[in-house]
Amino acid sequence: MGKVTAKANANIALVKYWGKQDVGLRLPMNSSAAIGLDKINTVTTVEFDEKYKDDEVEIDGDKFSDEEKERVVKHLDRVREMAGVSLKAKVVTQNNFPKGAGAASSASGFAALSVAAAEAVGLKLDQKEMSILARQGSGSASRSVPGGVCVWHTAEKSEESFAEPIEVPKEWDLRVLLAFVGDLKMKKVSTTEGMALTKETSPYYEVGVREAGNNLKRLRRALERGDWGGFGQVVEDECYRLHILCMTTQPNLLYWTGETVAIFQRMLELREEGVEGFFTVDAGPHVHVVCQTKDMGRIRKEIEGIGGVKRVVECKVGGPAEVIDEHLF
Ligand code: PMV
Repeated sequence: MGKVTAKANANIALVKYWGKQDVGLRLPMNSSAAIGLDKINTVTTVEFDEKYKDDEVEIDGDKFSDEEKERVVKHLDRVREMAGVSLKAKVVTQNNFPKGAGAASSASGFAALSVAAAEAVGLKLDQKEMSILARQGSGSASRSVPGGVCVWHTAEKSEESFAEPIEVPKEWDLRVLLAFVGDLKMKKVSTTEGMALTKETSPYYEVGVREAGNNLKRLRRALERGDWGGFGQVVEDECYRLHILCMTTQPNLLYWTGETVAIFQRMLELREEGVEGFFTVDAGPHVHVVCQTKDMGRIRKEIEGIGGVKRVVECKVGGPAEVIDEHLF
């Protein structure tokens, strides 16, 4: 049983996941879709060995809470149970971007942990099985396993809820600009907690879940037809759908800041000029703009000119989670 290191990319949801039908298994209420982001990732090294008397966890040095450690240990338990081993492990993980900031760190985190831990313990999982394992650590992590543009299926059974790639028109040269804006001042509510609250309290939840299903159909149709404008419309509709559900949760979850909305407005203005980038936001204030290479330079320049925008990261479509050679310890 050796030491294994894996790298996984974050992903930005095009059709959003927000709520579970089975909390323990992390089975989602609706199917979702996402794009992997090649520049935003997590690297994790795992070693199972008799020398460890307890699980040792390190995330970005010492920047993690007891709850985060507990979640990692619970995931190691899943892997140990699958493999029928009881060895303790050391886990060292490094994110190349801020955690818990609505840039999907749990997605890349649990995808990297799943690949590294499963390989280290000698489990031979295919991509579907790996996606199912990652899903149980964090729902969106199921989509960071295949990477690319993918769909995560809702299902009542664990073995049917996994993510797999979908086709994108060959002529679309997809890019995502991720604009980091100032931090939120509000109290942090985890996505796990937030989506449970929304399901319980938003009067629009049921209709929201139904709309997610319709929007995934619209997205698939736009991809089949190569309808770029139709694709972008779904991306933005889904951004509003998620945040309407969040805003109508008790207590209200408002993730947007002035800068978030300023970027939306600028994108709408640019569209009038024929420059097409479509905005979307996960559970945080930062904005992802999905565009094509031809418009990227102009969009980037415009976003960087907005006060309060801290940094813009240019991403290509990220690949699948994979084992790499360089260990963190
Ligand atoms: O898997 P989690 O707990 O990180 O939830 C992700 C939720 C959103 O990022 C807001 C939406 C999504 O589909 O990724």
